[in-house]
Amino acid sequence: MHENSQELHQLLEIIARIAAGNYSNDIMALTTDGTPEPIKTIAEAMGLMMVKVEAREFHLEQLVSELQRLNEQIRHNTVQTVAAMAQALEARDTYTRGHAERVAGIAAEIAAEMNFDAERVELVRTAGLLHDIGKIGCSDRIFQDHGPKNPPDVVKEILNHPVVGGDILSRLDFLNEVTRIIVTHHERMDGKGYPHRLGAEQIPLEARIIAVADGFDAMTTDRPYQRARSIEVAMGILKEDAGSHWDCDCVAAFERVLARNGQGADSRIVE
Ligand SMILES: [Fe+2]
Repeated sequence: MHENSQELHQLLEIIARIAAGNYSNDIMALTTDGTPEPIKTIAEAMGLMMVKVEAREFHLEQLVSELQRLNEQIRHNTVQTVAAMAQALEARDTYTRGHAERVAGIAAEIAAEMNFDAERVELVRTAGLLHDIGKIGCSDRIFQDHGPKNPPDVVKEILNHPVVGGDILSRLDFLNEVTRIIVTHHERMDGKGYPHRLGAEQIPLEARIIAVADGFDAMTTDRPYQRARSIEVAMGILKEDAGSHWDCDCVAAFERVLARNGQGADSRIVE
């Protein structure tokens, strides 16, 4: 074996590199006719094994990316299904038709204006779409007109809808962040919101954005208790209560969005 020691040393080095995960074609240099036996045969076998291993790795990579794509599709479909449930909910209440989609759109625009990255903008949009999903658990009574003052049981149900929404979505692990936002979308900066009376920084920024979009859409659409206000009036109320009810930065960002989009472009103006 003494006369083969150089090739043997080379072979062992290449095998050590392969074992460490560094695949290369170096092994092929030992498969030529000039290589003494049995090193040549071992090198040929190693070369063949590497080709097979690489083919398997390639196949595995393809499977992983296919799985990632399917996973993304499942998530998307699940959000769409839950959103369809939310829309079915709106069918019970003629006053809030299209509300979830408008809130989602407005909230996403505010988030983009506040320089959120694309993924976080989509998080806000999804939360906007699903923010009132908890009303599925409420009785039809909350959608009826009870005059200027709602009966206590109706108030109780309304105050509970963020928690119910959180319970519904908590079963979907990948919506964890959305759930956190939905539970807090009726909290206020001054701690007078519901359900947990959280203060300013305790409320996720995404939920503060949803609150502005939700408040604006509620003010600018007809409701049992009010006629739709104009965009200017609604914006005035948002600015007046910025810092107490709504987050100042979110209101300011929304004002910039409206200014850019042109306030007159909105067909919901009634006044
Ligand atoms: Fe709500």
